[in-house]
Amino acid sequence: MADEKKKLSTADILAQARAQAAGGDDGGAESSQEDQPQESAAAPESSPSEAPKSTSDILAAARAQAKGGEESAKPSGGDAPKGTSDILAAARAQAAGGDKPAGGGAAPKSTSDILAAARAQAGKGGDSGGASAPAAKKPAAKAKKEVPVGDLPPVKDMVEAMKSGKTTEEVKGGPAKPRIPTKPPKSPKPAAKAPEGGSRRNALLAFLLAPFAMAWTFVGVVGGLGTLYVARFMMPNVLVEPPSKFKIGPPTDYGFGTVATKWKAQYGVWVVNTEYNGRKMIYALISVCTHLGCTPNWLGGEQKFKCPCHGSGFYITGINFEGPAPRPLERAGIALGSDGMLEVDKSVKFQEELGQWNDPASFVEV
Ligand code: FES
Repeated sequence: MADEKKKLSTADILAQARAQAAGGDDGGAESSQEDQPQESAAAPESSPSEAPKSTSDILAAARAQAKGGEESAKPSGGDAPKGTSDILAAARAQAAGGDKPAGGGAAPKSTSDILAAARAQAGKGGDSGGASAPAAKKPAAKAKKEVPVGDLPPVKDMVEAMKSGKTTEEVKGGPAKPRIPTKPPKSPKPAAKAPEGGSRRNALLAFLLAPFAMAWTFVGVVGGLGTLYVARFMMPNVLVEPPSKFKIGPPTDYGFGTVATKWKAQYGVWVVNTEYNGRKMIYALISVCTHLGCTPNWLGGEQKFKCPCHGSGFYITGINFEGPAPRPLERAGIALGSDGMLEVDKSVKFQEELGQWNDPASFVEV
């Protein structure tokens, strides 16, 4: 029994006091131990929810109990204790009254003695109560649920955790709880950058406008042009001209009394099939005006060659008859090849004023 009394905690003692106070309220301040079982047994039946729960309720119940004890101890009747000191004094007196019959020792004076006396009284109530013991243990279990003192970490760990900013489990050395990452502090916005393109452009412009840079630029340009001129001088002058000899097809492609202009653009000749000095022949007239070298045009409606530069006119035979042209058009060499094709040779020219048109190399008789 003594071990069980020692094991009772403060919460149990408060629960016992709460149960006792509830019994005192219901019973009307009866202090006899014979009535306690009936009253304590009736308390949970009547109103278990009306039992004091908080410390203030417990103090009120203790005050009521102390009042009842004083009334029983002092029949003359005094004032009820109002302060905590009065309550403790009343509890001390009650504890002294409870201990005297049992052991006959001196009354407890300190708070620890009062708590010990209350623990002893609670133990008595449990032993002598009989039927009231289960009724008093129920609110004690309820108080454990309300105040889970055993689940709280030691005060030392809590103080150390507050100082170090860690959790009590971390202080104990247990697994650290995952911490919610805090937002990083906002870094100040960088200052607005200066336009790099503008500064580079200005630097390039300043470099180009510098006299030293301008001089070297001039030297570079002159040197480049000189190099190109030397390279062009080293290359030969090549005049790309059409071949002097070319075939123009069989004589049957050229009808009598016609002028073929299809070779004028490529080879610079007209192919004429006509009669000259009583002989039908095919010859090639060079399309160059004998005045200043312009290119005349064949006018089929007028049956003449007309120079657009100064108006010189030539017959179909090539004889000049109007304009400033001083002489007839020139003929090119022509021959009938072994393959039956007419071949023109512009490297050989025949002039009428020199009597060269009578040369058989200047026409092909048909
Ligand atoms: Fe043909 Fe003068 S060039 S008329």
